[in-house]
Amino acid sequence: MHRWFMFDEMLKEFYDIGKSLSSEKDTVKLFEKIINSSLKLTSADAGTIYIVVDKKTGEWSNIQNGSIRGKLLKFVIARNTSMNVNLQDFTAQISKKSIFGFTVISGKSVKINDAYKIGNDVDYRHDNTFDNNTGYRTKSILSIPMKNHDNDITGVIQLINKKRRWDTAISYDKDNATGEILPFNDTDELIMNSLAGQAAVALENSQLYRDLKGLLKVYRQQNNHLLYLSKNIMKAHEEERKRIAREIHDGPAQSAVNLSFKLEICKRYLSDGKIEDLYSEMNNFSDAIHSTVNEIRTIIYDLKPSCLEDGLISAVQRHIETFSASSGINIDFTFSGNDSAVEYYMTSTIYRIVQEALSNVKKHAEAENIGIELAITNARITLDIADDGKGFVVEELQTRKFDRLKGGFGIEGIRERVELIRGGMTIQSAPGQGTALHIDIPLT
Ligand SMILES: Nc1ncnc2c1ncn2[C@@H]1O[C@H](COP(=O)(O)OP(=O)(O)O)[C@@H](O)[C@H]1O
Ligand SMILES: [Mg+2]
Repeated sequence: MHRWFMFDEMLKEFYDIGKSLSSEKDTVKLFEKIINSSLKLTSADAGTIYIVVDKKTGEWSNIQNGSIRGKLLKFVIARNTSMNVNLQDFTAQISKKSIFGFTVISGKSVKINDAYKIGNDVDYRHDNTFDNNTGYRTKSILSIPMKNHDNDITGVIQLINKKRRWDTAISYDKDNATGEILPFNDTDELIMNSLAGQAAVALENSQLYRDLKGLLKVYRQQNNHLLYLSKNIMKAHEEERKRIAREIHDGPAQSAVNLSFKLEICKRYLSDGKIEDLYSEMNNFSDAIHSTVNEIRTIIYDLKPSCLEDGLISAVQRHIETFSASSGINIDFTFSGNDSAVEYYMTSTIYRIVQEALSNVKKHAEAENIGIELAITNARITLDIADDGKGFVVEELQTRKFDRLKGGFGIEGIRERVELIRGGMTIQSAPGQGTALHIDIPLT
């Protein structure tokens, strides 16, 4: 009766362990559960778990049909009821000469009654380094392969020194210590084979779970980045529309009002019979129409500068020439690389940046010289614009950012657009020291 009661208890314990293993997501805790359960179920004094890892990546791996090329065994956890062990992480070559090596290569469990009396009919031997260093005495051993669903071997559980009671320690300094050690029996082997199978699957699941969590995290980050990008693109479009509205309002819309005034004047001259005056006012009128048409053309051109079709370098070059001629500021332009692979949106962004930076120099810097360097490689585009003007306190941009109502693109606009294409902007300036703008845009 007593025996059956024990067996019953053990079944329950075993069932509970299975449940607890399959629900544990934390890998380290899982190792602890596996080793503790193994010791409890077999009354072993000590135990160690190794898992198979890939030599190159260090990732968890497995052994199929005894093929150990590119694989190592990695020690993951050890428990010893009678002695404090504090083993450092290590990995070991897999060889048939060690007991755990033989276990994972053959896929068979190994049962040894006395580690120091292993027969010559097998290759493996007990590694007695630990015993020699600590005074421990390894006697009975049960070494069990961990197999996953596909029967691939993912690791090994090694149990040492079966005791009469699982919760007692052995005093190895006493003479009769080894007398208390029993051989592992067939039931131990049966139970452990089953437990090792469950453990392998639970470990695989915990890895899957970890991978899945990693994937989810990456997915969330990407999603957040996309949201951030789309918000900023919408904002950029909105600002662009505002800028165009302002330009039409201040330019052609204003001019059209002027035209209607001029037309009123013409009507008055006509009704007064002042033909001479009428004639000269009509000349004015036609000039004003021309300049209004020009204003509209400029806005249209600015919306999609045709020079951008010729590529980044030539577009920048063209703008520089016009700017230099109209402002009288000397520009030294150097460039390197080939712009044939630079996409339109990139060309247009960089062109706008050059435009804004130069217009800032004209508006604020009182500079005589500007140096512009444009470098295009397969990997990135860098743009440097430096002037020898009066400079400014860069920190003040932060406060200006919010009260800037007019002015269009602006330095913050440059920064936002550069960030949209995953680039970076730095600006260096100080009163009396000129201003240097650096833009770096990755192309891959
Ligand atoms: N090249 C420069 N030299 C001197 N000051 C500059 C230069 N570029 C920008 N700044 C300063 O930074 C401020 C912010 O520039 P920006 O964002 O383009 O706005 P805005 O040109 O509309 O004033 C300018 O008002 C000016 O004080
Ligand atoms: Mg500006």
